[in-house]
Amino acid sequence: MKKQLTGPFAQLLTMSDLPERGALKDEQLAIISNAGILSTDGRVVEVGDFENLRTNHAGNDLHVQEISVPMVAMPGFVDAHTHLLYGGSRARDFALRNAGSSYLEIAEAGGGIKDSVRATRAASDEELITSTLTRLDALARLGTTTCEIKTGYGLSVTEELRMIKAINEVKRQSRVGVIPTCLAAHVVPPGYQGSNADYLTELREKLLANIIPYTNRIDIFIEESTFPVAVARPYLAAARSMGFQLAVHADQFTTGGSALAVELGAASADHLEASGEAEIALLAQSDTVAVALPGASLGLGMQFTPARKLLDAGACLAIASDFNPGSAPMGDLLTQASILATYEKLSNAEVLAGITVRAARALRKKELGYLAAGTKADFIGFATNDYREITYQQGRLRPAKTWIDGTEY
Ligand code: NIG
Ligand code: FE
Repeated sequence: MKKQLTGPFAQLLTMSDLPERGALKDEQLAIISNAGILSTDGRVVEVGDFENLRTNHAGNDLHVQEISVPMVAMPGFVDAHTHLLYGGSRARDFALRNAGSSYLEIAEAGGGIKDSVRATRAASDEELITSTLTRLDALARLGTTTCEIKTGYGLSVTEELRMIKAINEVKRQSRVGVIPTCLAAHVVPPGYQGSNADYLTELREKLLANIIPYTNRIDIFIEESTFPVAVARPYLAAARSMGFQLAVHADQFTTGGSALAVELGAASADHLEASGEAEIALLAQSDTVAVALPGASLGLGMQFTPARKLLDAGACLAIASDFNPGSAPMGDLLTQASILATYEKLSNAEVLAGITVRAARALRKKELGYLAAGTKADFIGFATNDYREITYQQGRLRPAKTWIDGTEY
């Protein structure tokens, strides 16, 4: 098997051996100087001193990619929460919000998510797949090597099935790792004749068994105006008993969702802008990863997730882009995470772990988000010799190179 050695990197942040949860100091980061990454078959074999690796593994089967400019390497970003598959645009909502309407008011008047549902349903499979691949390619150039993608703009049994299949087709065609999630319980569908509970019953009876080949993850938007806790509980419990991993859109405007996420052992509770002391304490004592979505706070002009308090209480904090046409159209994870750092006083280590190894934890993926023997050889290089430039430049410093499965993207 051919081995690939990439380096030397001025600094390599492996993001390995960090505590899974709680506050982090920059001094806890494992940094290797003059580092090399040795991989084979898309997996890391060894990380360490570049010259040592070159000497120890010299031979015909070693291919060396020499990096001639000073570069800092780190694992590729894991974006653990996106709604990348959609049709249309919500530029109108953006203007309406800035003229005084709220996100929930626009939604209740038939705009918002329902607007995206209309445009997504009207788009062909090919249009949806192509536009999602284009967005994914742009994200890869910004450093994302794994991207979770949710359905949620189909909102009927037939359309949600079409969406999850389309996301699987995107996964097949892209070199970026794609993790599909079913968010059929996003809002009650436009024109739906029954109640929110009736809609979830229909999903349970007619959709969940059929999506097993396409996803092992179920998400729901828990909110008093969409699916309140009491309505969401039986749906999530049923999904869990079928073996699905759970994620929850929780505490964005009102609380309740995070407690249910913890109660049901969800992999993650995402948003949490409205979480208070009680919710923070619950999350901190659980294995449910708290996912901050600064892109949604920036998109809607609302408060950030209490990331500092979550970390200080001992929670595992991930940071994701929430890339979607409504609340978070920017989609730039590094910029958003760096901005969150300034408002929430996060260390570089907390930010970088939040978009790599801790984000992988939110997806329950043990082989992603850090670089050590056996992990996926996904890494990015920034043209600098000081890793602190990455967050300090708030997104202006872009990765100069991205490697997926050990080879350049
Ligand atoms: O995570 N809050 C609900 N869902 C998405 C927004 C989707 C949309 O507005 O289209 C979110 O912010
Ligand atoms: Fe979301």
